[in-house]
Amino acid sequence: MNTNISPNHPPYPAYRATEKGSFAWDSTVRRWPIIIDTALVDMQKAMDTLQNDQVTQKEEGTSIINGLNQLKQEIADDKPLRLLKDNDSDSETWNQHITTHFNNVTWFNGSWLFNECYMYRRIRELYSLSNYWQDYDLFNNQKIATFRGSHGSVFDLATKMPTMIQPMEIEKQELVFQELLQVCLWGNATDLSLLTNMTEDDIKRLQAIEKEKLAEQLNYIVVNHIDQVWKKLKHLEKGRVDFILDNSGFEVFVDLIFADWLLQTNRASKVVFNCKTIPWFVSDVMPKDIPILFDCCLNPDFFPGEPTKEQQQALETLVKRWQSYVHSGQLVIQSHSFWCNGLAYRTLRDEAPELYQDLATSDLIIFKGDLNFRKLVYDCQWPVTTPFHVAIGPSLAEGFTSILSLRTNKADTIVGLADGKQEKIEATATPNEWRCSGKYAVVAYNEGSS
Ligand code: F6P
Ligand code: MG
Repeated sequence: MNTNISPNHPPYPAYRATEKGSFAWDSTVRRWPIIIDTALVDMQKAMDTLQNDQVTQKEEGTSIINGLNQLKQEIADDKPLRLLKDNDSDSETWNQHITTHFNNVTWFNGSWLFNECYMYRRIRELYSLSNYWQDYDLFNNQKIATFRGSHGSVFDLATKMPTMIQPMEIEKQELVFQELLQVCLWGNATDLSLLTNMTEDDIKRLQAIEKEKLAEQLNYIVVNHIDQVWKKLKHLEKGRVDFILDNSGFEVFVDLIFADWLLQTNRASKVVFNCKTIPWFVSDVMPKDIPILFDCCLNPDFFPGEPTKEQQQALETLVKRWQSYVHSGQLVIQSHSFWCNGLAYRTLRDEAPELYQDLATSDLIIFKGDLNFRKLVYDCQWPVTTPFHVAIGPSLAEGFTSILSLRTNKADTIVGLADGKQEKIEATATPNEWRCSGKYAVVAYNEGSS
């Protein structure tokens, strides 16, 4: 174990694209170019809607298109990471991280975690440097289109929700909690940047909410601390629960379902949704995505097919309640640039002390998704049985609040396996399948002490 830890030198060897055939390598040579190409198509479509007299907009758009092509080439040529050129409020911090920790590092030999974050920040730079395209979210159309495809589970959940929040004995509440926690977990499989590897049927299976299917899915949770989470939530009253959100669309819809259950059962009096500040990893939630999602749900023509009157009514009731939470302050939607830097989360206390202090007052922080998990555990090659509390580092594990990670496995890094578990899993699944396909998952919890 490396004890002289710094962002390009995590506790164990970092994942790097220099390792041919690795998932980091595959992302760098195959997946990122696809993501940039999709952005190029989106940009061209947006340009086609411009009028002839919108000359500046067109010029700026062309320069963004050129910039995206150049970025793709720069990655393919394995150039060194360069400093950012825009004046966004986080550029100084980014440049300081590059200068201090990634000086002369290249697209392949830097840590995959930092480089991948840097790629999304470089895309942001292109839009930042323009006037007209400042607020343009190049992934917006993809986020909305994918949400439209989730209509089956959206209506099922909306219809089922009233029975989940009615008064009931504590034993029954536990069963509801277990179902909802799993729905919230598997909602993370709906990640746009991974859709290239998953079939629509795979996604539908992972979005299933039926009891039997969820019971079957339990077999795919390789680290399972669900019981410990229940112990925490069982007696929680009028607490504060934070979500460090991941993806927009169906995933944030199920996060809202879980948040709603926390509020309706009085376990929480306040839920805080922590979002990204910029378009990030294709599908991540920015604050503006939440009202957009509400509007989609309230628009009877948004989803395909013909929902019944009851289904549409159930969804409307649900979403109006969510809107009222926002108005009353029971649901706070905020964002912070810390979530869009390239460092591991154990740097939170030093990098964003005020955010750290604020989060310390929360009763539970739920980190959603794969990237959040990678950042929690420093995205490195830990021995797989390393306890979760060791991997997140002392600043988050000690003297801080309780942390829960709900993550479907979409990258190599893994911790928290019981002895012999890896061998058991690998009797039926290849390493790539259980670590990276999104079909296996982790529910990792650390009880806080603050
Ligand atoms: O590009 C790889 C990656 O960082 C993986 O970790 C994961 O596949 C994806 O991007 C993001 O997933 P999530 O939306 O669950 O954080
Ligand atoms: Mg994401």
